[in-house]
Amino acid sequence: MLLYDDVIEEYRDFATYAAGDSPCFEEWALGVAEDDEVLAWLDTLPPIKRQPNLVLAAARWHGAPAPGSYDGLRRVLLEREAEVRATVMSRATQTNEVGRLATLAPVLGLLDGPLALIEVGASAGLCLFPDRYDYVWPPLGGLRGSGGPVLTAEATGALPVPERHPEVAWRGGVDLNPLDVSDEDAMAWLENLVWPEQDERRHRLREAIGVARREPPALRRGDLLDHLPDLLDEAAPHGTPVVFHSAVIAYLEEADRDRFHDLMTGLVAEGRCRWISNEGRRVLPAVTGGREVPSGRFVTALDGVPVAWSHGHGHAIDWL
Ligand SMILES: C[S@@+](CC[C@H](N)C(=O)[O-])C[C@H]1O[C@@H](n2cnc3c(N)ncnc32)[C@H](O)[C@@H]1O
Repeated sequence: MLLYDDVIEEYRDFATYAAGDSPCFEEWALGVAEDDEVLAWLDTLPPIKRQPNLVLAAARWHGAPAPGSYDGLRRVLLEREAEVRATVMSRATQTNEVGRLATLAPVLGLLDGPLALIEVGASAGLCLFPDRYDYVWPPLGGLRGSGGPVLTAEATGALPVPERHPEVAWRGGVDLNPLDVSDEDAMAWLENLVWPEQDERRHRLREAIGVARREPPALRRGDLLDHLPDLLDEAAPHGTPVVFHSAVIAYLEEADRDRFHDLMTGLVAEGRCRWISNEGRRVLPAVTGGREVPSGRFVTALDGVPVAWSHGHGHAIDWL
């Protein structure tokens, strides 16, 4: 999903993305795409602020019942317009989905440790703890023994089921707006970003916040393109530096996406780090490489080469 597409297309695209996971958001997004009054209101927002995840979450924050009818959403958007607008303008979609680790852990398992993990676009840094979870990849196998919560992704293909947890010697990251796991308001907003019907994700998020609170991650505030070189220097003495990101690069302008791709390709070629990307199918075209990616799937890639098509929230992984 691209942020700067025509807004109707964006909401229809989002409805497809949400279908199956959130019938409520699917209905809401399709409703918005057909509602001239709401579309006109969206048009008054800066393009970057029209994204469905943000607008729908802001409406819920101000009382739109979810799951609930499209009318409930519409009423809040139009009748509590000023409050919704203020929330849309002051907050961001920083959904931190630790479930994605179930699709990243098999890739981490291919790397020689110990690992020094650098997450760009880390949000609250919840994905920096792959060693603190157990994993199940039905029907292929699992990885247990961490004593932590269990993450599950349905798997197809010859998924390389890791035999042991990654040894993480260092972890850190950067975000434009790093969220502090001890900040109750920030964590409540994170919870509000979980889609309506997804009680399991909400439960997992609470568990993940608990995991991170035991050893709060070191996150820098700023743009990933500015901070990456310093983070690499800091991480490298501790182990194999692994730069990773999921659901982040769509937020960059197209020119910055290209810059980021070139930067990472160069760093990998110089042997300075490994690179795990997990992004929507149209976000890093040079990585996707013109391949046919199933709708709604992320491209999970190692060092710029796709290894799997993954569910955007980590519920499934199709190894290539
Ligand atoms: C949808 S969240 C994903 C968080 C996390 N990667 C995950 O998978 O759960 C995207 C995050 O990227 C961050 N972000 C977007 N553009 C960024 C940039 N240019 N530099 C650093 N962080 C950025 C946002 O602030 C947000 O926290």
